[in-house]
Order: sequence, then C-alpha cells, then structure tokens
Amino acid sequence: MPQLKVLFAPEEIKEAVERLAREVSRDYQDKNLLLIGILKGSFVFMADLIRNLNMPLEVEFVALSSYGRGRKESSGKVKVVRGLRTPIKGRDVLVVEDIVDTGITLSFFLDYLRRRKPLSLKVCALFDKAPCRKVSVPIDYLGLSVPDVFIVGYGIDYDERFRYLPGLYFLEEE
Ligand code: PRP
Repeated sequence: MPQLKVLFAPEEIKEAVERLAREVSRDYQDKNLLLIGILKGSFVFMADLIRNLNMPLEVEFVALSSYGRGRKESSGKVKVVRGLRTPIKGRDVLVVEDIVDTGITLSFFLDYLRRRKPLSLKVCALFDKAPCRKVSVPIDYLGLSVPDVFIVGYGIDYDERFRYLPGLYFLEEE
C-alpha cells in the first residue's frame, strides 16, 4: 500500500496562494483579467486564487489530459477534453495551472491560446516540478517548487483519487 507523506501543509499552500494573488492583483488591477484554468487539476487552486483577487475578473476552464487513468507519467500527447468556449482575442489572459511537470500540457495550451490572439498571455502555476521538465515553458507567477516525487492533493490526483486533500502529499511505495 502506498503511504501519503506531507510535502506542504494546508497553511503553507494558503500563504503561497495569497502571495500569488497579491502579485496578480498588483499587475492586473484594471484590466478585466480572464483567468483560464486547466481542468481537472486546477479547480481547487482557481477557487482559492480568485477569492483572494480583489478586482474585476472573469473565469473560464478548459479540460486537457495527458496522464489518463492509472498513469504516473505523461503520455506525451495532450487531449483536449473540453476546449475554450469564449473568444480571447484582445483580452489579457492568465493561465492557471496546478502543476507544471514535463511542461507538455502547458506548452501545448500556450500554442492553442496564442493562435487565438490574446492581448497578453501569462502563466500562474502553484507547483513547479522543474526536475521533470521536458519542454521549456514560462511561469510568470510561481507558488512552490516540488521535487521529483509523485504528488497528490489540493486538486491533484492519482487515478482520480486524493484530489480532495487540503495539503500536498507525496506517495511513497511500501
Ligand atoms: C496534470 C496537471 C497538469 C499536467 C501537468 O493533469 O493537472 O495539467 O498534468 O503535467 P505536464 O507538465 O507533464 O504536462 P492531468 O493530465 O493529470 O489531468 P487532470 O488535471 O485532469 O488530472
């Protein structure tokens, strides 16, 4: 049975989210920012982030998947499960991502968005697993760095389990 070990307690995540919200608020105060979350993983982060942003904003979601059921490694192919349903041409757009691992999902999505000609395009990622990067991607607002361990919690799953956990945990095989 795999054991769950704490990597970041809920309080540490809360502090990181609040710091990111301050940075985003400072830069987008009067821009009617459009935040686009990548489902499923980002829904918890998005919910906490926007409640710390005291400014006009809109929220959209797309669903992308590259891991799939039972996979611990990216398949390398990103599937658009649910595409963007609003025009972003001329908008200030901020991509909200729970974790950047290989960078394959984010790199794919930034290309997808650039083709739709936003006015500006930046990235806010709560967790960065930099040791696993395969494709270089920009992260303009970064929460916390994580080592190369398999993590779950705060929206992130393993085989659809553990998304509800309030902290970030790593799975240690027995
Ligand atoms: C996870 C996570 C990121 C992506 C990061 O999503 O939420 O979107 O992987 O990995 P990468 O940098 O290696 O591409 P996943 O494909 O597991 O889908 P989910 O969010 O629906 O669980």
